[in-house]
Amino acid sequence: MRIGRTSTLKSSSSEVGCGYSDLSFTPFKADAAAIALFDCGNDELNEFLRTDEVMEFEREHLGKTTLVYCRGELAGYYTIYADSLERTYVGSHGSLSKASTMHVKSIPAIMVGRLAVDRKWQGRGIGKAILERIAMYAIDDSHHLGIRLILVQARLDAIQFYEKSGFVAVPADLRGEAKRIKMKGTRTLFLDIDKIREALERE
Ligand SMILES: CC(C)(COP(=O)(O)OP(=O)(O)OC[C@H]1O[C@@H](n2cnc3c(N)ncnc32)[C@H](O)[C@@H]1OP(=O)(O)O)[C@@H](O)C(=O)NCCC(=O)NCCS
Repeated sequence: MRIGRTSTLKSSSSEVGCGYSDLSFTPFKADAAAIALFDCGNDELNEFLRTDEVMEFEREHLGKTTLVYCRGELAGYYTIYADSLERTYVGSHGSLSKASTMHVKSIPAIMVGRLAVDRKWQGRGIGKAILERIAMYAIDDSHHLGIRLILVQARLDAIQFYEKSGFVAVPADLRGEAKRIKMKGTRTLFLDIDKIREALERE
């Protein structure tokens, strides 16, 4: 995963392009006209923005939603909150081998609760840019708060999208995970932000 300004967004020749510098990230506001038009192809993710649920999450500090605009048009959004992953789920995975031997029950994380890009803007790198933005936050926040992972419970048809940004799926045969796949149709994936930090330090 490459961070921030280094990101390359793809533009379509037939429609207005959207480079990273065209994106703006705005804390949730009731932008009713734009929200009414927003369509990522998933009703539950569209509806979340249209009901009071999003404001309740904001007020109760249960999740923070950011609207992502491209040249003034609502192109996507994401909701994040603090969470953790049981240590047994990461096992002794690569860069986490040291952490997995330490006396911690779970690894602190930022959970990507929701992430959606409007159909008009899909396939142009905006989803990837959003993940990079979240990784940037995680690295900044980790200076004053223990955060090691970015987590997501991904729909099965979005797993590859996360894997392309370096996320790793937890083993499917773990008891809790096997149940999640069967009951909810989602997989748990994580990204170790220390790997990004190290890559940035090498640049
Ligand atoms: C999944 C979603 C967020 C991806 O956003 P996007 O802006 O279209 O994705 P990007 O253009 O940044 O894609 C980045 C890479 O992932 C790939 N990718 C994107 N969506 C993918 C998918 N569903 N399956 C496999 N690969 C996918 C792209 O081809 C691209 O690969 P490349 O770097 O090799 O070119 C978007 O399609 C969406 O909102 N879908 C509906 C809601 C949803 O499924 N949200 C996720 C809930 S867990």
